[in-house]
Amino acid sequence: MPDTTLSPRLPVRVPLETKKLGILQSLQAAQANIIGIIPEAATQLPIISGRTAKRWHMLMEPRAIREVLMEKLDQYPKSVVTKNLLKPAIGESLFIAEGAHWRWQRRTVAPVFSHRNVQALSPIMTRAADRSAERIAAAGKRAVNMLDEMVGATFDVIADVTFSGDASFDRRNIHHAIDEYISAAGKISILDVLGAPDWVPRPSRLRSGQAMREAKAQADRAIEARATEDATGTPDLLDLLLAGEDPKSGRKMTTAELRDNLMTFIVAGHETTALTLAWSFYLLAFDPAVQDRAREEANAVLKGRSASRTDVERLTFIRNIIDEALRLYPPGGMISRTAMTTDQLCGHEILPDDTVMIPIYALHRHAALWEKPDAFLPDRWDDRESIDRYAYLPFGDGPRICIGASFARQEAIIILATLISRFRFSAIKGRQPKPVMILTLRPEGGVWLQAEPA
Ligand code: HEM
Repeated sequence: MPDTTLSPRLPVRVPLETKKLGILQSLQAAQANIIGIIPEAATQLPIISGRTAKRWHMLMEPRAIREVLMEKLDQYPKSVVTKNLLKPAIGESLFIAEGAHWRWQRRTVAPVFSHRNVQALSPIMTRAADRSAERIAAAGKRAVNMLDEMVGATFDVIADVTFSGDASFDRRNIHHAIDEYISAAGKISILDVLGAPDWVPRPSRLRSGQAMREAKAQADRAIEARATEDATGTPDLLDLLLAGEDPKSGRKMTTAELRDNLMTFIVAGHETTALTLAWSFYLLAFDPAVQDRAREEANAVLKGRSASRTDVERLTFIRNIIDEALRLYPPGGMISRTAMTTDQLCGHEILPDDTVMIPIYALHRHAALWEKPDAFLPDRWDDRESIDRYAYLPFGDGPRICIGASFARQEAIIILATLISRFRFSAIKGRQPKPVMILTLRPEGGVWLQAEPA
């Protein structure tokens, strides 16, 4: 039986660290769950500095965060570790590159994610929502793991908007190769971010394994085949990238550059959006009154249809729920930079090679920035103007802000609205997810819910 009485007053959170840990202890805690090493004080103070083999600072003060992400881009490039970690999978793509090599790629890719192009891709999102509804209905009275379900649905979307209809592209294989890589990568990055000394045991070094090499080769074949075809139908991201060029230099991407950027969209875009949705469903089951209001809105706007692009603007309460889920459980729980020069942030001295982290999870629950920070209150988003822009950074900010943010928001709204209009979701006793951050903030144990026809 679904249990609706078990909701505690607050949705699940990770108990933050209250005592000072030694090097080995922090490394062990970090390997288990990086949020476990964010000190509780990060939700109270503007900055915390420390040393765990390497000097680091955690920054929670909006003005200083703006300096790092917006004003001093070249002084604070992405941390070397993140880059080394992801390079074997996504090359020197937009996500990783710095300086001129980043700039020309950003200029080339930006028009691909224009409002018009993102809107044009919405039928693919509606189709994925419909397929997901069919799978959930087929489960009948069995509980559904909405985490796995959303990983499947968002992979359908990203595969269809990158390599739509390419017969040579084996989706299952690519999905598998990427997931394996990311889960191995996540374990290593945390040790390295903290500057783990070499003697600390750690998982074997990452190599670009056989599965990833095969995935890249398939992607290359699909790109080369597509380049010779005549365009038909709505252009997908590959068509748009193939047609794109740097507006400044006229330079076009090579096959390898195209492949690395498409792989980046898959890596950066699919799990993050799935997590946003999985956490949103968890919160809706946690608060059935909010769920009822969401369903009322979806029914009033959709009138029995599946959601499409024209509905997105009118689904304002559902948008609030997604924004609140991104606040409480930001998929990118930590943004990390390496300082290039000496600087002062919030009165602390920053030295070259220091790691500057922005713990988004703690920022989003900071006592000075949020009222009732741990509560699930989607209505707080009715007054967006009152929220400090740099207190809420699920997509980062500044020139390196997530390029797929509006794509992800549109996808999440379409899928959530469609499913909530068809099903009533309820929590299952003893099946609470636990937030665990490896590379992203995941609900460990899954989001198991009972879904009944609404
Ligand atoms: C809810 C879903 C998503 C979340 C929470 C998210 C989060 C983020 C964050 C926090 C960053 C900045 C990282 C940093 O500054 O260190 C970022 C960058 C990026 N994201 Fe997303 N993302 C999402 C969806 C997507 C999608 C759907 C795509 C593409 C299809 C995408 C592609 C990228 C790319 C290419 C960058 C690097 C941009 C650059 O450095 O110029 N993301 N994302």
